[in-house]
Amino acid sequence: MKYLTIALPKGRLADLTLDLFEKAGIKCRGMEEKSRKLIIEDDESMLRFFLAKPSDVPVYVEYGAADLGVVGKDTLMEEARDLYEVLNLGFGACRMAVAGPAELMGRLDEIPDKRVATKYPNIAREYFEFVKKESIEVIKLNGSVELAPLVGLSEVIVDIVESGRTLKENNLVVLEEISVVSARLVVNKVSMKMKSQRIRKLIEDVGKELENA
Ligand code: PRP
Repeated sequence: MKYLTIALPKGRLADLTLDLFEKAGIKCRGMEEKSRKLIIEDDESMLRFFLAKPSDVPVYVEYGAADLGVVGKDTLMEEARDLYEVLNLGFGACRMAVAGPAELMGRLDEIPDKRVATKYPNIAREYFEFVKKESIEVIKLNGSVELAPLVGLSEVIVDIVESGRTLKENNLVVLEEISVVSARLVVNKVSMKMKSQRIRKLIEDVGKELENA
């Protein structure tokens, strides 16, 4: 029997996923050890887990280097990859939002051709241009996006808000909510056919555990 390979996002989401899998009766011995090893194989359960940079997980799954993966809905919305999204795991929940200085509250629509700084250019464009029918200038940044309105790079930002602390400490507020995002289980399209039985069983077991939680 071949290994079932699961790509996990490095960090807190990987720990939460492993806890959930364990409760669902899916074990991979070795993952609990804090080592720098990137791939862990369990010959008994024929499972192989690896840890990747969160935004790279859909790449591994789309190309079939992993049969399954766990990835934030924000990454899936931004990249529209060719894979199946099969379960909402619930954890890692946060909001995708438009944020900016409080004085723009309720006045966002009054600013023509706004500059929007973001790590998520496609989500920002989709929201402003297709949903709100507004033209904007998207400025792509790679992090610390909250800085942009503070130094005059943009009027607003589109970003993830988790605890709200980063916004608060920088005197910014949520102006509009775009959507709630959380971790999703995704499956490679060919694996879904070729390893159908094992993958369906895993989805069923995890799904049941989520219902009971
Ligand atoms: C994320 C996000 C916000 C912050 C939100 O950034 O882009 O900046 O976390 O979290 P909070 O609401 O709990 O404060 P991340 O920590 O990934 O760093 P980055 O800015 O370098 O992308």
